Amino acid sequence: MAARIIDGKACAARITAEVSGQASARSASGRSVPGLAVVLVGDNAASQVYVRNKRATTEAVGMRSLSFDLPASVAQPELLSLVDQLNADASVHGILVQLPLPKHIDTDAVTERIDPRKDVDGLTPYNMGRLLLKRPVLRPCTPQGCMILLRETGEELVGKHAVIIGQSNIVGRPMALELLMARCTVTVCHTATRDLPRLVGTADIVVAAMGRLRFVQGDWIRPGAIVIDVGTNRTPEGKLRGDVDFERARERAGWITPVPGGVGPMTIAMLLSNTLRAARLQDPSGAP
Ligand code: GUN
Repeated sequence: MAARIIDGKACAARITAEVSGQASARSASGRSVPGLAVVLVGDNAASQVYVRNKRATTEAVGMRSLSFDLPASVAQPELLSLVDQLNADASVHGILVQLPLPKHIDTDAVTERIDPRKDVDGLTPYNMGRLLLKRPVLRPCTPQGCMILLRETGEELVGKHAVIIGQSNIVGRPMALELLMARCTVTVCHTATRDLPRLVGTADIVVAAMGRLRFVQGDWIRPGAIVIDVGTNRTPEGKLRGDVDFERARERAGWITPVPGGVGPMTIAMLLSNTLRAARLQDPSGAP
């Protein structure tokens, strides 16, 4: 039987509408309009598309979007000083520096400069550490979105074996922490992992996040498994497709996310939700 589709687009629309309502209620009661600063360095085509979407959605939900576009040649001290300026600006509640950054920039130094209360990506050592300790504050957007999609299936997550392919700071690692918090048994695979197809075949949940077009073969998937595809790759024809061979995998999986329309829209919804949360954290009462 073909897998059921987990509709990330519809789920993200529901969350976005809820965040929008809460943001307007907040402004109507005299508190500040949540403001999100998005910093884009250079002219990476994929980043430009992502950033355009993030900025447009921020405005669509009635929040303030502040744009900072810097040339690829920007010097690191200049970028750090922009982060300092945004940290000090009370009208900015969230700061997102789009990754990847040009090679001459130390990404960790830039991320670590962001005030953890404004870290809507959840990537600073403070927020990542809070997640590690099972006391999350601002959580990385994509893994948080994947967890909501997993819960959308209505399946019991406790005790399931989850296999994550990819160990990036932005997805694989925080995803492992989220799944552990949900009491899954977690295996994290990477380029040195031996016999990946066999491991994937033992998974009740597969999270594909290695950024390689249709790398996960349909016949690796255990019948009935939940497949979450984080990949966003372009085919030679210019179409957006995931890390999983969707057509074959859906013949075996119980549930699967499509690309586009799966994880992608959830990442943006979580960014807006984090921005609202960050604004609340910065209220004088500091209510979460
Ligand atoms: N590049 C790709 N995805 C992301 C993301 O979620 N946040 C940031 N900052 N950069 C990204």
